[in-house]
Amino acid sequence: MTTCQRAVVRATVRELRATGRDGFLLRVALPAPLVQPLEGGHFFMLRTDGPDFPFLNRPFSVHEASHTASGSELAFLFKAIGRGTGCLSRLRAGDSLTLVGPLGQPFPAALHGDTTILVAGGVGLPPLYLWLKRRQEQGSRDRALLLYGARSRDQLFELDAALALGVPVRTATEDGSHGLRGRVDKLLEATLDELAGQPTRVYTCGPDPMMAAVSRIATRRGIPCLASLETLMACGFGVCNACAVPVTDGDGTIARYARACVDGPVMDASQVLWQAAAH
Ligand SMILES: Cc1cc2nc3c(=O)[nH]c(=O)nc-3n(C[C@H](O)[C@H](O)[C@H](O)COP(=O)(O)OP(=O)(O)OC[C@H]3O[C@@H](n4cnc5c(N)ncnc54)[C@H](O)[C@@H]3O)c2cc1C
Ligand code: FES
Repeated sequence: MTTCQRAVVRATVRELRATGRDGFLLRVALPAPLVQPLEGGHFFMLRTDGPDFPFLNRPFSVHEASHTASGSELAFLFKAIGRGTGCLSRLRAGDSLTLVGPLGQPFPAALHGDTTILVAGGVGLPPLYLWLKRRQEQGSRDRALLLYGARSRDQLFELDAALALGVPVRTATEDGSHGLRGRVDKLLEATLDELAGQPTRVYTCGPDPMMAAVSRIATRRGIPCLASLETLMACGFGVCNACAVPVTDGDGTIARYARACVDGPVMDASQVLWQAAAH
């Protein structure tokens, strides 16, 4: 897997724009180029300046990354749900913030000949979007499909950008305002029925119940499935154990705990004990 040199970096906000319901796209400039390219699933711990930000930095997957000789530009897509994301949502162009990263194990490249089905839920899009961007930049011919689900159309964040990635995009919304009416796992079942008999793998990121459902479907059909976990984190680089995830060797009991920040966030979904992880 790719490893990147971790650092504490002061970044400058280039742009913060609202997207969808309570969503924001944050673009930041880094003063020096990152040592290695970022892949879908790499994340950074972010914090804004000032006393309002919570004690612990907050983790966010990289949505876009570009590099020049003099610096790097990163984009993060997030939903404002609490104090930390509230602070991020009030940033303005020119403000400074602190990033720690890049961190974590990303999704691997496509396996030659396989179809990769990417299943995103709401703000779970970033690691899958970056994976597709990299695939597009590399001119990969391996087949990929994006299945994108949310409660409603306004939570299919950055859908137009996803549609421009050059892969088929299928959507599902629970209220029927875009694409199939229902949850994205229904769309996954239908897509896997269509692709039956073809070598396929599933990559997913979104709310835990969605990833658990996606994992169950893939396991039942004997299809490999990797999930980018969004476990609560404190340090982000393996020293505090706040992000412990129970994993099994296949018999449904806890074999050991993995740390989502260093062993993941991308992990074999069939090894994650989703029920136990939620408590
Ligand atoms: C590796 C990783 C990558 C992530 N990438 C993204 C991303 O690209 N975009 C994005 O919007 N979010 C992402 N998240 C989730 C993001 O880190 C949380 O939304 C953020 O930490 C919330 O901080 P807060 O202070 O605003 O919320 P808090 O005030 O801490 O919490 C507000 C409410 O949200 C709940 N909550 C907080 N974090 C989570 C979580 N991870 N999952 C479910 N519920 C939670 C709390 O229990 C509480 O009820 C990622 C998480 C991880 C671990
Ligand atoms: S967040 Fe500290 S060990 Fe993972």
